[in-house]
Amino acid sequence: MPAPDFPDLRLRRLRRTPALRALTRETRLGPEKLLCPLFVRPGTGVREPIASMPGQFRLSVDTLVSDAREIADLGIGGLVLFGLPEAKDARGSGAWAADGIVQRAAAALKDAGSPLVVVADVCLCEYTDHGHCGVVENGDVANDATLELLARTAVSLARAGVDVVAPSAMMDGQVAAIRRALDADSRPEIPILAYAAKYASAFYGPFREAADSAPRSGDRRGYQMDPPNAREALREMAADLAEGADMLMVKPALPYLDVLRRAREELAAPLAAYHVSGEYSMVAAAAERGWIDRQAVALESLTSIARAGADVVITYFAREAAAWLT
Ligand code: PBG
Repeated sequence: MPAPDFPDLRLRRLRRTPALRALTRETRLGPEKLLCPLFVRPGTGVREPIASMPGQFRLSVDTLVSDAREIADLGIGGLVLFGLPEAKDARGSGAWAADGIVQRAAAALKDAGSPLVVVADVCLCEYTDHGHCGVVENGDVANDATLELLARTAVSLARAGVDVVAPSAMMDGQVAAIRRALDADSRPEIPILAYAAKYASAFYGPFREAADSAPRSGDRRGYQMDPPNAREALREMAADLAEGADMLMVKPALPYLDVLRRAREELAAPLAAYHVSGEYSMVAAAAERGWIDRQAVALESLTSIARAGADVVITYFAREAAAWLT
């Protein structure tokens, strides 16, 4: 029997009513699959709007803890923390300070008994005065000299109470260096979410304003991936798995859904995708002008990311999406 053809085949039959559509829907996004990025800064009672990301804020530790309660009540899976330190220096020492800003936020969340999975970004760009993701030697970001600092940062964050560390500096060998350091600190249970396929993307623009982390000179193309490459992403992901990564990330999300899909087909590891600042702000700006529907476009975007193969979606829409989805 050949497969039926029109007029026997009528795909519209299953689209006729909302109930039929719900019954045959292939992808369902739940709030528990979302991670909500938050920016933490010094002070108390602070909720400072981020101009480049309308609806997002830089929070002091106390405000963050109270927001985290609402985020947990919405059923969201967890947080990804980014820090704005009091001071910056050439090596980014604020990243691994025992009383660093993210360390304090993580400790406060644990003290408050937050049920959220607390993920911390492990990178130096928010903490270096030059804005690069590692130490600069002879005008270049020195890979091997940076590894030790990233490892120190991951250990410090784990000691503070972070549940998952997420290295995003795109240094070769960073996952192995962090795994060894965590194990040596008797923390074999801490998983690594590797920003494995992280592209040198213009979509990070609004984040760099939010986190004050733009490089003062040059760019990140010498360490983040070249956007035209997809096969290379699979090599990055295989390398990170071999180094001990527990979960892998593709970032940004929508412009790289092909990479996400290929990873889903070839790898068994859990996959995260980061719907980044520029992706968020484009929707926010167009919706402000009345050109698109914020809720519909956000949900369609996030569902597409899940459909392409993401198990976990990191998004600035997490709170709104969780409310819309339940
Ligand atoms: C740190 C880091 C960046 C983002 C996440 N971690 C900035 C960058 O690499 O320049 C971007 C996230 C976003 O745009 O939402 N290296």
